Amino acid sequence: MENQPLLQLQNLRTSFRIQDDYYAAVDDVTLTVNENEVVAIVGESGCGKSALALSVMGLHPLDRTKLDGNVNFNGRNLLSLSTGEMNKIRGKDIGMIFQDPLTALNPLMTCGKQIEESMNYHTKLSGSEIKAKTLELLKKVGIPNPERTYKQYPHELSGGMRQRVVIAIAISCEPSLVIADEPTTALDVTIQAQIMDLLKDLQKQMKTGIILITHDLGVVAEMADKVAVMYAGEIVELADVNTLFKNPLHPYTRSLLNSIPSTNTAKGRLHVIQGIVPSLQKLPRKGCRFKGRINWVPDHEHEENPVLREVEPNHFVRCTCYKNFEFPQSDIGEINYDIS
Ligand SMILES: Nc1ncnc2c1ncn2[C@@H]1O[C@H](COP(=O)(O)OP(=O)(O)OP(=O)(O)O)[C@@H](O)[C@H]1O
Ligand code: SF4
Ligand SMILES: [Mg+2]
Repeated sequence: MENQPLLQLQNLRTSFRIQDDYYAAVDDVTLTVNENEVVAIVGESGCGKSALALSVMGLHPLDRTKLDGNVNFNGRNLLSLSTGEMNKIRGKDIGMIFQDPLTALNPLMTCGKQIEESMNYHTKLSGSEIKAKTLELLKKVGIPNPERTYKQYPHELSGGMRQRVVIAIAISCEPSLVIADEPTTALDVTIQAQIMDLLKDLQKQMKTGIILITHDLGVVAEMADKVAVMYAGEIVELADVNTLFKNPLHPYTRSLLNSIPSTNTAKGRLHVIQGIVPSLQKLPRKGCRFKGRINWVPDHEHEENPVLREVEPNHFVRCTCYKNFEFPQSDIGEINYDIS
């Protein structure tokens, strides 16, 4: 449908059962992905990025997970679908690319057969049509000798080539949405750039919507249209990529951006908020979840229960105290190249 968002998350909450209680790893997430739009999700390790991606794909263990809110995709709430109905969507309309290509691939099956599997399941193409399409896909993802790789097993390929095969599987049924969860972190730095270039090219060609989970703010700047910054399960800032980089407002976003070394910043003079994301059981249930990380701001200056507010068109921030916020000199941390 025209003008309808491709994916719309509304107040999504994903809670896991730990012992006898449920704890939210994703909380009150409202986010829209449009056709042909790349939405990056950034945030420290443990802030709920993968939990969010797996919620959209319906891949959490059902017996230990509670999902609330809405995940509207092509006009249907995915949270209300049966496992069978979800299986028809996953791999066909929503493609997935995970961090580690070796675990994503079946070691006992040739690469060609693994690409064909998805098309066999989701399309009515004949065997020879599927084979031709598989070879075409291998070529499209930059595999130099498609005929040869078609017959190879994953362990016979380098990490970068394996990730190309994973991407071929993800796009084989021409999905309208691809979720890429740290697609390059398991790869060498030089290969990372090649894989990101490939993803970017494919996205442009296919006009796919992409949720890109990444630690690499350089990749975000280059690829994303919109950025959601997550902290402790919540989106704390949401804006288009230029606004976010030019005018970051939430203290956490500013800290993340400060952690990128720049040529005119002297080593050791970057402002980085110290500490880590608390574990699910230790997350404060009331008040701002970030409060413990910036204890130099007096209690009364913190907002009690910050909600995500639009502070300028299409720029949302979960905090009103940001206006008074300054990094103290004493908290200037070491250079931190990676936000994980
Ligand atoms: N199935 C589960 N059961 C219980 N807790 C879980 C489960 N999956 C994730 N968690 C917890 O939820 C929180 C968010 O985890 P998640 O994997 O989404 O983080 P992340 O942002 O993807 O981190 P990383 O950058 O390291 O991949 C963490 O505290 C994690 O321990
Ligand atoms: S309420 Fe206080 S701790 Fe929370 S984000 Fe705003 S300034 Fe930071
Ligand atoms: Mg993760």
